[in-house]
Amino acid sequence: MLHAIIMAGGSGTRFWPRSRRDRPKQLLRLHGDATMLQQTVARLHPLVAPERIVVVTGADQAAATREQLPELPAGNVVAEPCPRDTAACVGLAAWIVRKRDPQGTMVVTPADHVIAPDSAFRDTLKAGLSVVDADPTALVTFGIRPTRPETGYGYIERGELIETIDGIPVNRVVQFREKPDRQTAEEFLASGRFAWNSGLFLWRAGTILDELERHRPDLASALARVAESLGTPDEAAAIAREYPSLPKAPIDKAVMEKAANVRVLEVRYDWNDVGDWRSLATLLPLDAQGNAIQGDVLAKDTRNSIVISDDGGLIATLGLDDVVIVQSGKATLVARRGQLDQLKGLVEGLEEKG
Ligand code: GDD
Ligand code: MG
Repeated sequence: MLHAIIMAGGSGTRFWPRSRRDRPKQLLRLHGDATMLQQTVARLHPLVAPERIVVVTGADQAAATREQLPELPAGNVVAEPCPRDTAACVGLAAWIVRKRDPQGTMVVTPADHVIAPDSAFRDTLKAGLSVVDADPTALVTFGIRPTRPETGYGYIERGELIETIDGIPVNRVVQFREKPDRQTAEEFLASGRFAWNSGLFLWRAGTILDELERHRPDLASALARVAESLGTPDEAAAIAREYPSLPKAPIDKAVMEKAANVRVLEVRYDWNDVGDWRSLATLLPLDAQGNAIQGDVLAKDTRNSIVISDDGGLIATLGLDDVVIVQSGKATLVARRGQLDQLKGLVEGLEEKG
C-alpha cells in the first residue's frame, strides 16, 4: 500500500522576514488560498488516504500543523525536538510505515513545492509505484528538465531507458550528485544527460531502511533505538531523548549519492520548489519593468526587482535595479537580488545575535 511522508521541518530562513517566529514556509499562504502544507495533502487525494499520510515537523510547529490538517489522525503529525535534516526524518518515517505495513511503499514529499496539475502528479506517483512493485529494491527519483546551472539542487544522470509507463520514461540512474559547484553544474547542464532532483522520492519503507543501514549504520542504529518505542506510550519521550544526538545529513548525500539501484522518472507537471524570494517571484505577475510586487508598493524607475509589503505599509522605490525589499512584521530585508543565496547565513547570524 502507498503511504505518504511529508517533510515539513525546514526552518524557513530563505523567506525571512516573512517566515519569522513560528511560521516556516509550509504554514504560509505564499501562493493560492490554502497553505503549502494543505496543498501538499490535498494533492495526494484520492491516491493516499489521510490515515496513511504522516507529517514530520518541528516540535514548535506541531500544534499549528495539526490545526491546519484536521483530517489527519493527531498521531500522524510527528514532532522532532530539533531538526536533524532529511535522512533522520526519512528514516524515522520509514520505521513508522514499516511497523504499520511491513511491505508498505512510501512517497516522500517536501511540504512546500508548487505543483500543477495535481492529477499529473498523482499519475507520476502511480508510475513510480509500479516500478517499485516490479523491483522492490528500487529507489525512485523524479527528474525535472534543467534550465540553468542551478547549484541549489541535486542532479541525476540518466542511464539506459528501462521502460515507459503511461508515457512516462523510466531510466536507470548513473549517478546522483547533490548540490554541485557552479562549474560542475554547468558541465552537467551542457551534457544534456542530467535532470534536477525534484526532492520527491518513492520506495519501500524496508528498502530505504536497508540502504540507511548499509550507508549510514550510525544513523540507522540510533533510529532503531527510537523505533522500539514507536506506537507505545514512550514514543514521544524516546524521540526527544534520541533525536538531539542523531547525525545530521540530507538523504540526498546519506543515501542517494551512494545507492546502486536508483531509477528516475521524468516529471510531466509544472514544478517550482519556491526555494526563496526569487522563485516565489516567478509565480507572481511581473509589471512592465520586470518587477514582482506584492502589497502596497510604488516602484518608480525600478527594474527587475522584488518588492513586498506584508503589513499594509507603503513602500516607494526610486531608481533601483535588481534588488529585493521585503517588509514583514517588525523586520525589513533590503538585498541585492544576486546575493539572496546568502540570506540563510544572514538569518542564522541574526538568530545567534538573539
Ligand atoms: N522534518 C524535517 N526535519 N524536515 C526537514 C528537515 C528536518 O530536519 N530539513 C529539511 N526538511 C524538509 C524541508 O522543509 C523541505 O520540505 C524538504 O525537507 C527538503 O529540504 P530543503 O532544505 O528544502 O532541501 P533543498 O531544497 O536544499 O534540497 C532538496 O530539494 C531540492 C529540490 O527542491 C534536495 O532533495 C535536492 O536534491 C533537490 O534538488
Ligand atoms: Mg527546498
